Amino acid sequence: MATVTNAGSSDIRDPGLAGKGALRIEWAAAEMPVLALIRERFQREQPLKGVRLSACLHITTETANLLTALKDGGADVFACASNPLSTQDDVAAALVRLHGIPVFAIKGEDGDTYYRHIRAALDHQPQITMDDGADLVSEIHKNRNDLFETVIGGTEETTTGVVRLRAMAAKDVLQFPIMAVNEADTKHLFDNRYGTGQSTLDGIIRATNVLLAGKNVVICGYGWCGRGVASRARGMGASVVVTEIDPTRALEAVMEGYRVMPLPEAARIGDIFVTVTGNVHVLDKPHFEAMKSGAIVANSGHFNVEINIPALEAMATGRRQVRDFVEEFVLPDGRKIFVLGEGRLINLAAAEGHPAAVMDMSFANQALCAEYMVKNAASLVAQVYDVPKEIDHEVARLKLRSMGIEIDTLTAEQQRYLESWEEGT
Ligand SMILES: NC(=O)c1ccc[n+]([C@@H]2O[C@H](COP(=O)([O-])OP(=O)(O)OC[C@H]3O[C@@H](n4cnc5c(N)ncnc54)[C@H](O)[C@@H]3O)[C@@H](O)[C@H]2O)c1
Repeated sequence: MATVTNAGSSDIRDPGLAGKGALRIEWAAAEMPVLALIRERFQREQPLKGVRLSACLHITTETANLLTALKDGGADVFACASNPLSTQDDVAAALVRLHGIPVFAIKGEDGDTYYRHIRAALDHQPQITMDDGADLVSEIHKNRNDLFETVIGGTEETTTGVVRLRAMAAKDVLQFPIMAVNEADTKHLFDNRYGTGQSTLDGIIRATNVLLAGKNVVICGYGWCGRGVASRARGMGASVVVTEIDPTRALEAVMEGYRVMPLPEAARIGDIFVTVTGNVHVLDKPHFEAMKSGAIVANSGHFNVEINIPALEAMATGRRQVRDFVEEFVLPDGRKIFVLGEGRLINLAAAEGHPAAVMDMSFANQALCAEYMVKNAASLVAQVYDVPKEIDHEVARLKLRSMGIEIDTLTAEQQRYLESWEEGT
């Protein structure tokens, strides 16, 4: 592929990594057949022709396939990272040099750089925002109200982003429509569960090389991500403990065969802790005080607030980096606690994020929602919309087709039966 040089004033680690990134993007593409079909149609129909789109997503090989599909559909795309540790620098280089997509993202960037990059993506004057955690929308509402005129709407990838955006809508602050991609069944039932399940353990294992068999693995939060992590940890021989605050979800975990108990109790027996709640300070000082020496703590929820690292820092008498993505904190009584990936989502910090086969569905929803937003801009108001069922079903249908799996259809008699109320026993 020829080098493209018109990628504006990108800020990436090293353009020289583009070749490596291109190969990895190609590798992911092979597992993204649904997005490939959408790309082909986008190339023909140009539904996003001339639309300026700023994406704040994890800069991974899967995201690269989404961004290039959007570009193939006519969009004028800028991208920045949705987490300081999730950028794959070779992918950023390939996007800039080989696809002409301006990218503002460097793995390990500090907080100031992270927000400078978000502002750079917004300088593109987007008509569509594509968020993973609502940072673009939040920044527009806090500091870039001038963009209210320009933005026709946005899409949101993750649970935490949807929670933030619903809070904005409830407080009448939200100024433009949002499509909550996370709420599609073909997103959270698969990406959050199987994607986070597999890649979170991948991140923990790559960072530590620890054996999961025989370990007490404590999962805080039994939502879509939590049940994925729990089932994969059990599959590798761990003894899984679940902590929850929602009685129904706790009950589901019990009936799935996991031990459920309050976190102060679990803190005493856990070897490995994983937070996936979307909440703040779930693992906190009293839990660190109770933990065994050698306990490993990791987070796979969206923000790095689930583990109260400042509290642990204040308790510690010493700290050192013992491996990539593993920091040791020594407590006054000599116990050691190991924090992975600075408490940032460990599947993206220490591994490569979700496998492409699952991001295929999430990003098919993203692409189709961007198209939907452009087509329906005139009728959408400033609220958070679920993904239309037609889009959700279409993604499932295409994914099944790509897997060579066929399913049944209702007979006319069955259809009539389901629509009637007169027939009983
Ligand atoms: N790592 C990734 O790649 C990735 C992927 C998808 C989602 N996420 C993020 O993971 C988080 C969880 O997402 P989800 O889709 O599973 O959400 P969810 O709402 O389905 O589940 C969260 C669960 O945590 C529970 N919870 C809340 N506070 C708790 C506490 N103090 N202790 C124990 N449990 C508590 C809730 O009751 C709920 O059952 C979000 O921040 C989401 O954005 C990360």
